[in-house]
Amino acid sequence: MMEAFRFFSFAFLLLPLLLLLNVSFALPTSDSVYDTFLQCLQKHTNQSEQEVSNILYAQTNATYSTVLFNYIRNARFNTSTTKKPLLVVTPSLESHVGAAVICSKTNGLQVRIRSGGHDYEAVSYVSDVPFIVLDMFNLKNIAVDIDDESVWVQAGATLGELYYSISNKSKVHGFSAAICPTVGIGGHITGGGYGTMLRKFGLASDNILDAKIVDVNGKILDRKSMGEDLFWAIRGGGGSSFGVVLAYKLKLARVPETVTVFRTETTLDQNPTTTDIVYKWQEVAPNTDDGLFMRMLLSPVSSEVKEGEKTIKASVMALYLGTADQLVSLLDKEFPELGLKKKDCTELNWIGSMLWWNKFDNGTSPDVLLDRNLNSAPFLKRKSDYVQKPIPKEELDGIFKKMIESSRVGFNFNPYGGIMSRISASETPFPHRAGNLYKIQHSVNWDEEADEANCTAQIRSLYSYMTPFVSKNPRSAFLNYRDLDIGINTHGNDSYQQGMVYGLKYFNDNFQRLVKVKTAVDPDNFFRNQQSIPTLPN
Ligand SMILES: Cc1cc2nc3c(=O)[nH]c(=O)nc-3n(C[C@H](O)[C@H](O)[C@H](O)COP(=O)(O)OP(=O)(O)OC[C@H]3O[C@@H](n4cnc5c(N)ncnc54)[C@H](O)[C@@H]3O)c2cc1C
Ligand SMILES: *[C@@H]1O[C@H](CO)[C@@H](O)[C@H](O)[C@H]1NC(C)=O
Ligand SMILES: *[C@@H]1O[C@H](CO)[C@@H](O)[C@H](O)[C@H]1NC(C)=O
Ligand SMILES: *[C@@H]1O[C@H](CO)[C@@H](O)[C@H](O)[C@H]1NC(C)=O
Ligand SMILES: *[C@@H]1O[C@H](CO)[C@@H](O)[C@H](O)[C@H]1NC(C)=O
Ligand SMILES: *[C@@H]1O[C@H](CO)[C@@H](O)[C@H](O)[C@H]1NC(C)=O
Ligand SMILES: *[C@@H]1O[C@H](CO)[C@@H](O)[C@H](O)[C@H]1NC(C)=O
Ligand SMILES: *[C@@H]1O[C@H](CO)[C@@H](O)[C@H](O)[C@H]1NC(C)=O
Repeated sequence: MMEAFRFFSFAFLLLPLLLLLNVSFALPTSDSVYDTFLQCLQKHTNQSEQEVSNILYAQTNATYSTVLFNYIRNARFNTSTTKKPLLVVTPSLESHVGAAVICSKTNGLQVRIRSGGHDYEAVSYVSDVPFIVLDMFNLKNIAVDIDDESVWVQAGATLGELYYSISNKSKVHGFSAAICPTVGIGGHITGGGYGTMLRKFGLASDNILDAKIVDVNGKILDRKSMGEDLFWAIRGGGGSSFGVVLAYKLKLARVPETVTVFRTETTLDQNPTTTDIVYKWQEVAPNTDDGLFMRMLLSPVSSEVKEGEKTIKASVMALYLGTADQLVSLLDKEFPELGLKKKDCTELNWIGSMLWWNKFDNGTSPDVLLDRNLNSAPFLKRKSDYVQKPIPKEELDGIFKKMIESSRVGFNFNPYGGIMSRISASETPFPHRAGNLYKIQHSVNWDEEADEANCTAQIRSLYSYMTPFVSKNPRSAFLNYRDLDIGINTHGNDSYQQGMVYGLKYFNDNFQRLVKVKTAVDPDNFFRNQQSIPTLPN
């Protein structure tokens, strides 16, 4: 406060003088930094002007907008008022990355690092201070080693490309991460990404064997040279507070030749046992066989029974690492309420299951997983919660009523348990382990910009309604479901105090260790965003 006050009073006193001299406080413009940045890149890469100009986009470049739009996955951050970077840098060599970091520093520009661009709050490509986007999409090499059951994958590759590359070499290996093929390796894995095998193999970040990262001095470090503290921090703490991840070495998962998927649906208006099914799911899904992942999706839909009314649809989508016969007999015993029959099940290989989750028709070639060119994306807002005690039936009914009233917000319940409960909470920065039954994703999508206020108000209202049923002190949240409502760092004097607000929610008891690592590797807080790890106050 004081500093700001002094600055403003100083500026105020100076203002008449400045007006007199016709001097203005000019913010850097895209054109004014382009040339100095270009020269700086040349110097720090030893490349020609021609070579480095291929990876540098000013706002006046004809293709600037295309490059920026290509990896925007949320229409909320694709408007004319969305803050744009002065420059986009698109490294095509690992050595470009360090040079870009150094040149941003010397030009007083903030860096936002983007890989797949799926950040729900666009932290990877929007900032309110002069900034550049370091866009990693060209660095997408993938080297699968089946003998070693590992893969080196660069940050700019997508999950779809990773899965495709693995399946091109082996039908009995996969990797434990999200189903969405366009999610980027760079952000997803360092943020503690999860998918349909998390109960068997843990998070993507639990399967990192080695990594290459560019530090604040532009130096490339691997696991050995970065040391175990920093290697710990980037396995769930969010890489963007610490440096730029170039690549990870990941441990492949051994999957059976045949896996089984199913989807069941029931609606409250047509099936009064819907509440019982949801209630029982809370007991079975987190405690069943590690090889079974049953996601529960709850959404308000139009009733087919009562015209003009809404009801709740409860869908279970599942992957089982085994055959349909085994699965049916398992659920017969544990979850008879679901009434799963063999005819509801589909047996596939693992890559086929990825296509199924993404709703591609049976027989679609896995090539579709390589498609990066989504032509559009909806407006969206997400929030997260952890449930530690089953929600009683009466309360579920109350939640359904509230969802129907709100009319647009859905819930996605993702079961934990299995290996997630056996990995200690301090093993990596991701703290939500034993004691958590499932994670809720609160979700709302819309198509018209004008609906934003209504939709965000609805999701916040439901979030508030859920308070009694979810984790407390802190009310935990999942970093990869970025949500700026839970606290932001305004880069002010009190950044540590502010950082603690969201930091404890994302990282619980691991927050302090993250702050220590941050302070050691980036004491001037160069790598920062609205929810980065703060440095210790000195
Ligand atoms: C359609 C969709 C489906 C999703 N499904 C899942 C899911 O099933 N499971 C799940 O866990 N999450 C899921 N997510 C969330 C997703 O995992 C996170 O948004 C993740 O951070 C995306 O990574 P990215 O590289 O695509 O994103 P980006 O927006 O590029 O980056 C996200 C964050 O990571 C940082 N970052 C990116 N690259 C690097 C790098 N190379 N080095 C250092 N920091 C970097 C960014 O600065 C930013 O802070 C989903 C998101 C979407 C939009
Ligand atoms: C550039 O060249 C100088 C002098 O030859 C050398 O010291 C430096 O390591 C080179 N930098 C890169 C990134 O190749
Ligand atoms: C951007 O524009 C400059 C000047 O016209 C040009 O030299 C450069 O190659 C362009 N950069 C890209 C990446 O297209
Ligand atoms: C962003 O806007 C551009 C230009 O209007 C459009 O082509 C693109 O599809 C939009 N992307 C998203 C994710 O909304
Ligand atoms: C898949 O593997 C085959 C054979 O090894 C190879 O020729 C092909 O290029 C691979 N496809 C991709 C997209 O990597
Ligand atoms: C999927 O398609 C294959 C042929 O492409 C067929 O043999 C198989 O029975 C189909 N599976 C299902 C579940 O429809
Ligand atoms: C949001 O829209 C719904 C209709 O979809 C309407 O019933 C509700 O009143 C609106 N809420 C707000 C806060 O505008
Ligand atoms: C931040 O503000 C507090 C009082 O609010 C003050 O004591 C402290 O010195 C300030 N720190 C810095 C780095 O300005």
